[in-house]
Amino acid sequence: FPIVVLISGSGSNLQALIDQSLQGKLDITISAVVSNKADAFGLERARKAGIPTHVLDHKSFASREEFDQSLQEVIDQYQPKLVVLAGFMRILTDSFTRHYEGRMLNIHPSLLPKYKGLNTHQRAIDASDKEHGVSVHFVSAELDAGAVIVQARTQIEAQETAESLATKVHQLEHVIYPLAVKWFSEGRLTVNHGKAFLDGQPL
Ligand code: GRF
Repeated sequence: FPIVVLISGSGSNLQALIDQSLQGKLDITISAVVSNKADAFGLERARKAGIPTHVLDHKSFASREEFDQSLQEVIDQYQPKLVVLAGFMRILTDSFTRHYEGRMLNIHPSLLPKYKGLNTHQRAIDASDKEHGVSVHFVSAELDAGAVIVQARTQIEAQETAESLATKVHQLEHVIYPLAVKWFSEGRLTVNHGKAFLDGQPL
């Protein structure tokens, strides 16, 4: 089951996918890893696993449209059945998200629909929330607003900092992202009218 993973940074979620597929828990082939940053540590993780890598520096494109067009060309040469955004920190054009509609996932560090966008951990602490977490969702044109597939939650403790919370949330990410990818690769996930389904049951 060919997938392409898009990253901008550390790539610990990419690593979770690599590890689970090496362990035979996940029947996927990561055909390529694409980063918009040349120094993303995730590129090293990919190289170490023998996965082809591409760097597409968004700053060398005149517009968001041109960047997304090139990105699409790079991705589509691998004919992936799924595109996985794993810490890919670029807002995508409508035309790009439409092209991968129903076959592109993202992981967002909040209990969506709460805290779309950035600095989610600090925002949850500032709001005195009792709990926080992470969501895997289908990507739709609107930022962080696609159909939610799976969420995991954690308590916010009294002395919690954005850093300690991020660490806890990351551990949850490494569990639920491979799970969502597994469901998709088994043909069990669908999306219809902004709602995700597992085995035909609404999530
Ligand atoms: C994660 O916190 C994810 O939720 C967010 O970006 C971060 C990526 O981390 N979208 P990593 O690069 O996979 O370690």
